[in-house]
Amino acid sequence: MSVSIKSAREIELMRAAGKILAKVHENLQKELREGMSTYEVDRLGEEIIQSYGCIPSFKNYNGYPASICVSVNNEVVHGIPSKQHLLREGDIVSLDIGVIYKGYHSDAARTHGIGEISKEAALLIERTRQSFFEGIQYAREGNHLHKISNAIAAYAESFGYGVVRDLVGHGIGTRLHEDPQIPNFTQKSRGVRLRAGMTLAIEPMINAGRFDVEWENDNWTVVTQDGSLSAHYENTILITSGEPEILTLTEAESNLAKPS
Ligand code: MF3
Ligand code: CO
Repeated sequence: MSVSIKSAREIELMRAAGKILAKVHENLQKELREGMSTYEVDRLGEEIIQSYGCIPSFKNYNGYPASICVSVNNEVVHGIPSKQHLLREGDIVSLDIGVIYKGYHSDAARTHGIGEISKEAALLIERTRQSFFEGIQYAREGNHLHKISNAIAAYAESFGYGVVRDLVGHGIGTRLHEDPQIPNFTQKSRGVRLRAGMTLAIEPMINAGRFDVEWENDNWTVVTQDGSLSAHYENTILITSGEPEILTLTEAESNLAKPS
């Protein structure tokens, strides 16, 4: 396994790719509403990506047939957009988006509620987000990767949630998926040692019920085996000699993430 270390020039491009992706999320989130099909979400998302001069990196990736993954309720990830699938009040919708800017990838996911959602759903979304921040406290030069995985898992499991094991985060750069793999569940082996200049996509996928998932017949859509809700939160981050830099936060999110 070899983990690429990005040069100063590459880091600038990764920052730019991340900033654009944050904008794409911000713009697309605003358009979500009851009655909209997940196909429309994809069409709109692709237009927004292209308006920034970027390429949607998921399109045709291993044959994926759309630009954006739109996963609703018990769908964990890789939900294929469909004209038949209309969003309804109370749904939770995970938008997973990747863009390529001047040859560099960024990757980020958020879960949003449609209209009023249950308390249970809102807590799942917020705790999934927080599990990411628990994890990246350990995203520092010199630490081994397992500290991130273990912190995410310990936090999510403290609520009785299931941490998805069949899918993991990843290194990212000139390719969408680079080494290392970044599990969100407890690790026995310590994994790679983090170094400044690594760029990583950290993406907890958390189920309200058990961790088990299965694939639907389309060979893409991953769903919870027990039918429980699932949430996803992902950012592309940069390891530095100090605090990690989160490359895919919107302006509003960066203000929230800063300790006041
Ligand atoms: N964020 C997901 C990942 O990192 C998205 C990949 S979807 C695919 O694997 F369609 F591109 F495979
Ligand atoms: Co990813």
